[in-house]
Amino acid sequence: MRILILNGPNINLLGLREPGIYGTDSFADLLALVRRTGEEEGIEIETFQSNHEGALVDRIQESMGRVDGIVFNPGAYTHTSIALLDALRAVRIPTVEVHLSAVEQRESFRQISYIRSACFLTITGEGIAGYARAIRALKEHLAADDARKKSENGEKNL
Ligand code: DQA
Repeated sequence: MRILILNGPNINLLGLREPGIYGTDSFADLLALVRRTGEEEGIEIETFQSNHEGALVDRIQESMGRVDGIVFNPGAYTHTSIALLDALRAVRIPTVEVHLSAVEQRESFRQISYIRSACFLTITGEGIAGYARAIRALKEHLAADDARKKSENGEKNL
């Protein structure tokens, strides 16, 4: 099982950026946590961060057939990007939307998430721990999917 941890604009500044909102854990702490969680769960983890919308679209497209799940924090593109929504819909890779902050308690312009409808779960306001929970939730979701497919195939073979 292979999971992509995808981060959008300004997430690389974690720890330096508005610590009152995003906490004091650094981006390096976030990367270490997701790697550690992958090891604990027996999942291969790959990570990608970009400040550019098109680079995120490219990475989602390139993930088709290579990656089983995506943990995605699109940063501010959450609230603006139909292109990211379309990319997720196109590749149909199970995805969890993660936000470090409790976006639902913030400004009105953060209340729209274009990608949310393409995600099976949204986690907000847990800081970097939200990414670890997202990886575990993806693992469960993929295992349930697998079991469902196997039982459907078994029924067909009867
Ligand atoms: C964020 C929330 C977004 O509104 C914001 O633009 C970010 C980070 C979060 O992780 O809380 O860049 O996605």
